[in-house]
Amino acid sequence: MKQSSGRGNFGSRLGVILASAGSAVGLGNIWRFPTEVGSNGGAAFILVYLAFVFLLAMPVMVAEFVIGRSSRANTVGAYRTLAPGKPWIVAGFMGVVAGILVLSFYSVVAGWTLHYTVDSIGLRLMGPQDFAAVFNNFVSNPWKPLIFQYVFLLLTHVIVSRGVESGIERFSKAMMPMLLVIIVVLACCSLTMPGARDGLTFLLKPDFSKVTTKVVLSAMGQAFFSLSVGIGCLATYASYFKEDTRLVNSAFSVCVIDSLVAIFSGFIIFPAVFSVQGVQVDAGPGLVYITLPNVFNLAFGDVPFLGYLFSVFFYVLLLLAALTSTISMHEIATAFFRENYRLSRRTAATIVTLICVVLGTACSLSFGVWSEVKVMGMGFFALFDFLTAKFIMPLGGILLTMFVEWYLDRKLVVNELTNKGTVRVRSLRLLLFLIRWVAPIGVGVVFLNELAS
Ligand code: PHE
Repeated sequence: MKQSSGRGNFGSRLGVILASAGSAVGLGNIWRFPTEVGSNGGAAFILVYLAFVFLLAMPVMVAEFVIGRSSRANTVGAYRTLAPGKPWIVAGFMGVVAGILVLSFYSVVAGWTLHYTVDSIGLRLMGPQDFAAVFNNFVSNPWKPLIFQYVFLLLTHVIVSRGVESGIERFSKAMMPMLLVIIVVLACCSLTMPGARDGLTFLLKPDFSKVTTKVVLSAMGQAFFSLSVGIGCLATYASYFKEDTRLVNSAFSVCVIDSLVAIFSGFIIFPAVFSVQGVQVDAGPGLVYITLPNVFNLAFGDVPFLGYLFSVFFYVLLLLAALTSTISMHEIATAFFRENYRLSRRTAATIVTLICVVLGTACSLSFGVWSEVKVMGMGFFALFDFLTAKFIMPLGGILLTMFVEWYLDRKLVVNELTNKGTVRVRSLRLLLFLIRWVAPIGVGVVFLNELAS
């Protein structure tokens, strides 16, 4: 397979896994997952979610890897190379648009995280306070959250402008292991809190009567969102993989790492939620920013310095996890503009950043001065979240898997999955079955159910 010159490559196998896991692991796991678990009833949601991760989202990830590495192009270019002149290219454009929409609302939360990082370093999260009021005042302020959001977008911009190996890979490799360690430590701390037992019951004891169509759609949306699949993000990364990267193994590792981080985040948040008066499990987007400062204060009441250290560590790492994800969203559109219009990486990245500044501003303001502006009954933030996670990403998943299994030549697909027959993939047949039937039909059924309800 030819390698287009000057596109860049991930240098090592670990780099591939950590960069892809870096894309997957982010606010989706530590902020969105607990929020969704809280508003969808707990353990039963988690089980449905895990089933969707491995039965629906993982096959889509493998499909993305195949498309990306075999075409060595951005998402639009990939369809142009693999299916010239065919309408499949629409799926590529859909990915570029979705990447921009995700980055626009995601950078709002990333901005909050940056603000909390600065506050935690400056000792402002120390001592008991009404953290719910603090949070609500901050997000509804007309300009403060915007400044933090813009700074965050700028950071993303700088890393993406630097390119694949020295920017994206190097950064992910350094950050991911640290993040994993701190998450485990924090979960252990949270489990010593007074409400730990109730938190664990909520997380581990399924009540299937709570599984409604809304819960199922939310679980599917969360699975796609958390794994970054359905919009060509991982296809774009896979276009930088080397010939000897093992696609199936890498996909499996990313899914396992991502699920573990999500579940550990649950272990951090819910024991804490049940230990603090006045915080509801279904508090919505603010959950993490209201409960965690309480945890740091309560869990380490006797040794405030430790509480301080943990809060600083936590927010810094959450910030970095968010950053490894935002660079992957940004890269979808940057790669597209760069290759499609033959721009320099820097110019392409600038276009993407500017679009996200405009759309991202609308998302941020929907928590304050624009809270009355509604489209389809939702503010911009909720609308972008809904459109991408619950609609475009799963729909993209159907198209990607159908493209790989129904359109692409079977030989090409098997060659990609086995690296031209040099690696044995034990569950190859099962995997192809999941890609061909289970993923597209499964996602379709959940959609139809939702429409009918
Ligand atoms: N998977 C990322 C997270 O969990 C979010 C993301 C969505 C990243 C779409 C890239 C594309 O935070």
